[in-house]
Amino acid sequence: MARITLSGVSYSYGKKTPYEIKALDGVNIEIADGKITGIIGHTGSGKSTLVGAIGGLIEPDEGQVLIDGADVWKNRKKIREHRFRVGLVMQYPEYQLFEETIRRDIAFGPRNMGLSDEEIEERVVEAARFVELPEALLEKSPFELSGGEKRRAAIAGVIAMRPDVLVLDEPAAGLDPRGRAAIFRNIAEYRRATGKTVIIVSHSMEDVATYCDELVVMSGAKVIMHDTPNKVFSNPEFLVKNGLDLPQIARLNMYLREKGIDLGEGIYTVEGAFNKIMELSSKK
Ligand SMILES: Nc1ncnc2c1ncn2[C@@H]1O[C@H](COP(=O)(O)OP(=O)(O)OP(=O)(O)O)[C@@H](O)[C@H]1O
Ligand SMILES: [Mg+2]
Repeated sequence: MARITLSGVSYSYGKKTPYEIKALDGVNIEIADGKITGIIGHTGSGKSTLVGAIGGLIEPDEGQVLIDGADVWKNRKKIREHRFRVGLVMQYPEYQLFEETIRRDIAFGPRNMGLSDEEIEERVVEAARFVELPEALLEKSPFELSGGEKRRAAIAGVIAMRPDVLVLDEPAAGLDPRGRAAIFRNIAEYRRATGKTVIIVSHSMEDVATYCDELVVMSGAKVIMHDTPNKVFSNPEFLVKNGLDLPQIARLNMYLREKGIDLGEGIYTVEGAFNKIMELSSKK
């Protein structure tokens, strides 16, 4: 288990230059242990910078990033350990596959950790299973894989390090709906099977509504809301004002409500809406 807390974290790019940009501005959050937390916000709001701070890739100018109450930058020599504990899958990670085979690529992280060959092999097989990569693909070169398969291989490479916290920055960006659903399903199953904390940055309101337990909403380098998807999506005006979409079903709910049909709270998926509509029509 690992509890991640950010206390008054600020960070600017291009410090002391005319291009200085404050990307995090006094961020205070506590990430729920063992849950899936989604990070949403319009482009440039600071989501990737936030996950970089959580993963120990960027050092805050002010404030602290804490894991189980300990400041991760207090002892600079230990930052490497923190980066092993918090596994970060960056935006478009498939560009970082560089080994001859997928098996070697997934093994890269565990090998860096100094594990035995046996342990590495066990972890590679386990990680490939989580992302539904068939064993036969492990001997192939990254060049022979589809975009979705490469993405899954990159995620497996981080899972194979068995981090306490798995952080994914737009894991489904650029994939078709099927590929997107598969990635989110894999992540949900990973969390269910391991009980580990997962943090996902996503532009898709549908996906975060379906898979996340909690949402952090960012705007202009600040966290402006941190609550359950139900609560976040029950405030559509606030979201729209901050440059965010609503899940399509939330828009349908609003439309139906205007027409006098109330599906109630917490329905943001097609399946949920279908079931509710069937339930309401059977009562009539
Ligand atoms: N390496 C960098 N150098 C300078 N400015 C940067 C750098 N990375 C990000 N920024 C700026 O910091 C701000 C926050 O960027 P960040 O990448 O964290 O946003 P984001 O919410 O992840 O955006 P997106 O949805 O487009 O991925 C933006 O104004 C961005 O232009
Ligand atoms: Mg980003």
